[in-house]
Amino acid sequence: MNTRVLTGITTSGTPHLGNYVGAIRPAIQASQQRNVDAFFFLADYHALIKSEDPALIARSRLEIAATWLASGLDPQRVTFYRQSDVPEIPELCWMLTCVTAKGLMNRAHAYKASVDQNTAKGVEADDGINMGLFSYPILMAADILMFNAHKVPVGRDQTQHLEMARDIAQRFNHLFGQGRDFFVLPEAMISEDVATLPGLDGRKMSKSYGNTVPLFEGGAKALNSAIAKILTDSRGHGESKDADASHLYLIYKAFAQPAESANFHAELLAGLGWGDAKSVCATESNKRWARYVHTTKT
Ligand code: TRP
Repeated sequence: MNTRVLTGITTSGTPHLGNYVGAIRPAIQASQQRNVDAFFFLADYHALIKSEDPALIARSRLEIAATWLASGLDPQRVTFYRQSDVPEIPELCWMLTCVTAKGLMNRAHAYKASVDQNTAKGVEADDGINMGLFSYPILMAADILMFNAHKVPVGRDQTQHLEMARDIAQRFNHLFGQGRDFFVLPEAMISEDVATLPGLDGRKMSKSYGNTVPLFEGGAKALNSAIAKILTDSRGHGESKDADASHLYLIYKAFAQPAESANFHAELLAGLGWGDAKSVCATESNKRWARYVHTTKT
């Protein structure tokens, strides 16, 4: 039997370079392997937890769908779908909800972090927390178990959700499997790149920090202005740069070919000025951007 690889992206924002490097690219690479059946979806029910703005969710859904396709997803090979087009997912979610201990959800990091923030603010523990946020890991378990996925490419922050999906599957199998494994126990596939891709200010690239490099939004202009904002040290032209510690190099390396990265690395060591280095980065990324736009038009 083929290995089933499944992943989803919550449609609550505009995809950026961090999403591409950490989630989209490795998932597409996995889908191109032989003996793999891939299931990639737009997690629009998950988006309702974070946003009450229908227009934003609709827009994000299209942007994320376009990004998957522009990044090389082959719809002939991959089962590519919108979560809300599969009513069996929320149906399964309810059945799983009824075999999940409330105590398991009390331990979920996302919920606990919200409670901690409320406590720090001195308001009631559950202030502003909806049941969607509280039982979010059960919906994610339903997404995964629905298709009996073996491997789930996700960021490190999702590890606990995968453990919960396994717990829930085991409980269901025990209660209703009549001696056989009704659901496959899924495994997380963690991409190490996610943790290491810095944003413009050096912290992890994340929409919530406002330090992202946009993939398509705003076109070449937005791309250039993001690159101009990448934080560098004060070493001047002609001084050797610590390439491995520079955010500019790490960001460049995330999308360039290995030979191009090696070249850029050597030039930085040899004293390439930051301004020139940013122009190289901008020229290369604009070329790629133009190629994407071209590919998606034909
Ligand atoms: N929770 C994931 C995230 O925020 C998105 C997601 C929803 C997902 N359902 C999933 C990922 C199922 C993998 C499998 O990144």
